[in-house]
Amino acid sequence: MTHGTIVITGASSGLGAEMARQFAALGYDLALCARRTDRLDGLQAEIAAAHPGRRVEIYALDVTDDDAVIAVTKKIAADLGGIDKFVVNAGLGKGAPVGKGSHYANKETLTTNVLGAFVQAEAAMQVFREQKRGHLVIISSVTSVRGFPSSMTAYASSKAAVASMGEGIRSEMMGKPDLDIDVSVICPGYIRSEMNEKVEQKVKFMVDTEPGVRSMVEAIEARKAHAFVPAKPWAALGRVMQVAPLKVVRKLM
Ligand SMILES: NC(=O)c1ccc[n+]([C@@H]2O[C@H](COP(=O)([O-])OP(=O)(O)OC[C@H]3O[C@@H](n4cnc5c(N)ncnc54)[C@H](OP(=O)(O)O)[C@@H]3O)[C@@H](O)[C@H]2O)c1
Repeated sequence: MTHGTIVITGASSGLGAEMARQFAALGYDLALCARRTDRLDGLQAEIAAAHPGRRVEIYALDVTDDDAVIAVTKKIAADLGGIDKFVVNAGLGKGAPVGKGSHYANKETLTTNVLGAFVQAEAAMQVFREQKRGHLVIISSVTSVRGFPSSMTAYASSKAAVASMGEGIRSEMMGKPDLDIDVSVICPGYIRSEMNEKVEQKVKFMVDTEPGVRSMVEAIEARKAHAFVPAKPWAALGRVMQVAPLKVVRKLM
């Protein structure tokens, strides 16, 4: 008996792969998406061995390919008989200081994290509006709350944009009592993954992947509208960052 169906993009590594393991353990059937399908093959085999009753389907997907995102999402809904949750997780952490000639790095991150997230939300919401129900989950970041310097400027901007997108869709859904559609914006602090393995020495409050993702999964299961995770220290720190002077925020991160 399934607990529901969940789509996770960026499932080939880091937080996406660990969310797949933990949602499978909770009883969800999974649709796992990424470009590196060899990684998805391995994860599919691992989850099938650990949870033989679960269905795990894998899909090659580049979230910067609009047509593919729409088509693959429709195919997933048909394959799994509907979608209960869609986790917009695929993301990039590349970046360079603005004005130093590396705009390409910032553009790549903004294209993947913002335009890629918008088309994923478009695809998921098309399915949810037709089903009249669903749960859209946006993986933002604690960096969404303020501007960040140097190589973090584009990334933090992208995470602010997707947090705003999630809240905007949620606001629209509040005015649609005929649609049972929730939107969650999840803002993780620093959780060990491929994205931050090169910078981890400099990063404060880093937690391991398994407990960090557990806090994300709990917030998603609780259908929270907005959550800083892990709650300790980020629920308090996230709020402090929203109002603290910029010189203080620079030192916190
Ligand atoms: N780790 C943290 O501390 C942290 C904190 C806050 C927020 N986040 C967010 O959490 C999400 C996952 O990050 P992570 O830390 O797990 O990093 P990661 O290990 O580098 O994983 C990133 C995932 O995104 C996928 N991806 C990247 N570009 C893609 C594209 N164009 N099309 C499809 N998939 C793409 C990658 O898959 P392929 O390369 O196989 O396509 C990979 O599975 C990101 O949105 C990130 O911003 C992470």
